Amino acid sequence: MSDQEKKNNQNHLENDKTLTTRQGHPVTNNQNIRTVSNRGPATLENYDFIEKISHFDREKVPERIVHARGAGAHGYFESYGTVGNDPVSKYTRAKVFQDKGKQTPVFVRFSTVVHGNHSPETVRDPRGFAVKFYTEDGNWDLVGNNLKIFFIRDAMKFPDMIHAFRPDPVTNIQDSERFFDFCANSPESFHMVTFIYSPWGIPANYRMMQGSGVNTYKWVNQAGEAVLVKYHWEPKQGIKNLTAKEAAEIQGENFNHATQDLYDAIENGDYPEWELLVQIMSDDAHPELDFDPLDDTKLWPEDKFPWLPVGKMVLNKNPENYFTEVEQAAFGTGVLVDGLDFSDDKMLQGRTFSYSDTQRYRVGANYLQVPINEAKKRVATNQEGGQLRQKNDKAPGQNPHINYEPSLLGGLEEAEQIGKEYTPHVEGNLVRESIDRNDNTKQAGETFRQFDDWEKDELLSNLIGDLSTCDKRIQEKMIALAEEADEEYGRRLREGLEQMKKHGTSKNPLGATDAEQAPKYAEDIGHDADPY
Ligand code: HEM
Repeated sequence: MSDQEKKNNQNHLENDKTLTTRQGHPVTNNQNIRTVSNRGPATLENYDFIEKISHFDREKVPERIVHARGAGAHGYFESYGTVGNDPVSKYTRAKVFQDKGKQTPVFVRFSTVVHGNHSPETVRDPRGFAVKFYTEDGNWDLVGNNLKIFFIRDAMKFPDMIHAFRPDPVTNIQDSERFFDFCANSPESFHMVTFIYSPWGIPANYRMMQGSGVNTYKWVNQAGEAVLVKYHWEPKQGIKNLTAKEAAEIQGENFNHATQDLYDAIENGDYPEWELLVQIMSDDAHPELDFDPLDDTKLWPEDKFPWLPVGKMVLNKNPENYFTEVEQAAFGTGVLVDGLDFSDDKMLQGRTFSYSDTQRYRVGANYLQVPINEAKKRVATNQEGGQLRQKNDKAPGQNPHINYEPSLLGGLEEAEQIGKEYTPHVEGNLVRESIDRNDNTKQAGETFRQFDDWEKDELLSNLIGDLSTCDKRIQEKMIALAEEADEEYGRRLREGLEQMKKHGTSKNPLGATDAEQAPKYAEDIGHDADPY
């Protein structure tokens, strides 16, 4: 504290720990509001109290419309410089991947999807896996999930899907019947339903789950040539999933278990790591395949499109403050750098509008000036104003009067294009049509057959439990999809539902009827799973 400050403080003793208001006024009494005598009433000029309470009244911002519950961590990405046996530059000029050993800071947020902030982390739900790379060319966000596919393949259906999965608008209770009503009538969801109702729908924690970009992106090289690419994260910790009983047991003891697991591991120096792998296809429609490479309800078979490692990610620092770093973090699929591009995947295009749109509402027009969202490099724009603008984005030496471009008077100038621009040719009639090659059940059958026996048993018991509460017409449609996918899958689902009709039903959304048989949370819980 300076001598001048000490002199100013002659009416109160102020040191480095002294509580102040946001205006810098030292707070000498934080216990009592100002009143006429000690029995009140209070007076309106209580500036310090009114500031304190009115800021508190505004402490929350709207939670994310989906993925509201999450946990975050800082770390770095380290590039291998290669993709399989090739230098990565053969496929992409993105600087983040170029040199072996090059490190780029990252911030990651894991999440559940359907329920609100502070909902249990044991729910049957996809898990979000969003990574912000602070690259030398500006930010790149890879906004993925733990599973590699999705429920729908057209962005038009997203709000309906989320409404059906969320609690009923009247009772505010999540209802399997609404979930299956949507899924039975959206058969493209059947592959995802097969994953979600298996133990893959409840990862044991965030550290022991895979990640995937899900949608198809492009890589562009120096010559302006593109390939289609899918991204996958493989945890070095192994993969672990929970049975419904294990999840119910954990939920009874600690509904924050995944956040706590991540935080504790990092605090203890047990830093989680993932390898980043890609699958690559040439940039065309691939008529030889029985699925469209732009269909996000489909896996790209690993034997035809091998997983090629390109780097690894280590998370080694917990956030210092949950709100400023995790809650205000804003990821979006439009946030790409040179050498990375969009594909024509319709879901991806719909998503790309939605993220920054919601963030302008959720965090504010200047959400990119919040430190967690800022690029860690020079930023110079001609943007002005907006609520809570913190900074003037001008370049040093820029004429401050010139906030437009082009100009001869010292304003900002366009960057020079170095690599050849990628200019895909697009042609066709404007239509509202689904893509071709949309077999909805073949891959679901393949996935079912690849499950271990315990995974199949879990899938069927969970499906039967939740479907048994549904309208008969919905049950019949779901059974028909399972029969189309695989004979055993369909038969066991039908038989199970018939038996449930005889022996009563379970309304428990986790399908957990026998929780006391589950292992204790304190033990090493969960089942190892082979990578998919
Ligand atoms: C058309 C389909 C989709 C739409 C319209 C959509 C929209 C949204 C919106 C509005 C948010 C909230 C963002 C925020 O408040 O910051 C969000 C979050 C998220 N979405 Fe999507 N989404 C879609 C599909 C997907 C898919 C397929 C994935 C997986 C690849 C995904 C992964 C995520 C993740 C991980 C988050 C949380 C990001 C974070 O941690 O802040 N979404 N989505």
